[in-house]
Amino acid sequence: MPTAWQEPSEPLALPAHFLLGSATAAYQIEGAATEDGRGPSIWDTFSHTPGKTWNGDTGDVAADHYHRLDEDLDLMASLGLRAYRFSIAWSRIQPTGRGQANPKGLDFYRRLVDGLLDRGITPVATLYHWDLPQALEDTGGWTNRTTAHAFADYARVVGEALGDRIAVWTTLNEPWCSAYLGYGSGAHAPGRTDGAAALTAVHHLNLAHGLAVQQLKAVTTNTPQYSITLNFHVLRGRGAGAEEAVRRIDALANRSFTEPLLRGRYPEDLIEDTAAVTDWAFVQDGDLTQIHQPLDLLGVNYYATTAVRLWDGETPRQNHDGHKDMGGSPWPGSPHVEFLEQEGPHTAMGWNIDPAGLEELLLDLHTRYPNQPLVITENGAAFDDHLSARPDGTYAVHDPERIDYLRSHLFAAHRALAAGVDLRGYFVWSLMDNFEWGYGYSKRFGIVHVDYATQRRTPKDSALWYRDLALTGSIPPLPTERTDGHAGRAPGP
Ligand code: FCB
Repeated sequence: MPTAWQEPSEPLALPAHFLLGSATAAYQIEGAATEDGRGPSIWDTFSHTPGKTWNGDTGDVAADHYHRLDEDLDLMASLGLRAYRFSIAWSRIQPTGRGQANPKGLDFYRRLVDGLLDRGITPVATLYHWDLPQALEDTGGWTNRTTAHAFADYARVVGEALGDRIAVWTTLNEPWCSAYLGYGSGAHAPGRTDGAAALTAVHHLNLAHGLAVQQLKAVTTNTPQYSITLNFHVLRGRGAGAEEAVRRIDALANRSFTEPLLRGRYPEDLIEDTAAVTDWAFVQDGDLTQIHQPLDLLGVNYYATTAVRLWDGETPRQNHDGHKDMGGSPWPGSPHVEFLEQEGPHTAMGWNIDPAGLEELLLDLHTRYPNQPLVITENGAAFDDHLSARPDGTYAVHDPERIDYLRSHLFAAHRALAAGVDLRGYFVWSLMDNFEWGYGYSKRFGIVHVDYATQRRTPKDSALWYRDLALTGSIPPLPTERTDGHAGRAPGP
């Protein structure tokens, strides 16, 4: 259960060089899906396949960021952001995932990065946020080992172009989703439902990361930091067999990445648990050495916790793991683990709000991997926002729930810092409302509202709150009385 904590009465200062910023991903905001030589990715194919996304939504236009780059850069500056985490669309750089770089694709990201630097904003670039070039999927995607090598070549191409100005390189965003939702459950592109394929993808993604870090290191000319971002599952075991359920899901969700990346090995229990699904013959001699590269930062994405127990085999099996049910399972070899519905409060995603889970996760990572610096690369919440017109003709979005969510998680991060965790930054998901994958445009995570009919951007109250945080470098206590009429809610139980 979440631990109760005291609402601080004084502002809490963040460390001097703490990276405070916002995050986005290429397919979710850029649009311009067929412009300037961009090739199709698996998300173009998937979102254009009937029944795969809410309302048939696609990222064809999204937040039209590709055409509104300067306006969006000014917006970030006006919000006082110190850092910006974005992703590069592989198929803008190499339309088929291989070969010659597309100069127009590189130009777009050069303009983005230069625009950030001009405004004093630290660029944090992710090479892969799920948008595999379709041509590579056509030859097996992440189930084909050659995709890992193609990724390393792509990393080199981007590193040669931008390797004098990116501060932090992140190879992959949430490989758990790419592998288990893309190839296991089918909820994400490419929509395959094959447990063995999902585990094969896990390994090839890990390998891709290790090869890419080495390529980047060979070509960058500044002194950047190298990282990968994982979405950890913070598990709450319930009922008889709780420990076993937690162990199995921890192995599949968390340790299948952290152990090879940070210790150069796959967990033995993971290999045993999945023996009926695969023999792991796709792991070749030397692979683990390639994967196990020193990481300057480990990126942590956190939204909610996950409750599990062993299924009794009789009562109807629950499946509340926070992911859409598209026919397959994201948990190969673990059909007897049940994912339980959790107590509220919940966000509009139905995800439970549990800031203590973030603190526990940071402390747990610090204990397991003591010398590993961490950065929160995503944290945030979707709520049903409403745009209202002010008398002066401007617009506002009052989103006190999002402010509460962000505050409570920042306090959790601060408690982890105070306990000695080497935490280097925090990125709110997301800068602006965007294409939320299978949920299309039905879920709004932005601190800036996007009116998709006009593409008008309106900073929500949470953006203004976040700006104060970025400008002062300290988390303000709850105001005793709010002007927005919201009473305020101390996070926790
Ligand atoms: C994460 C993704 C990000 C966004 C948030 C809500 O899993 O990395 O793109 O969809 O969830």
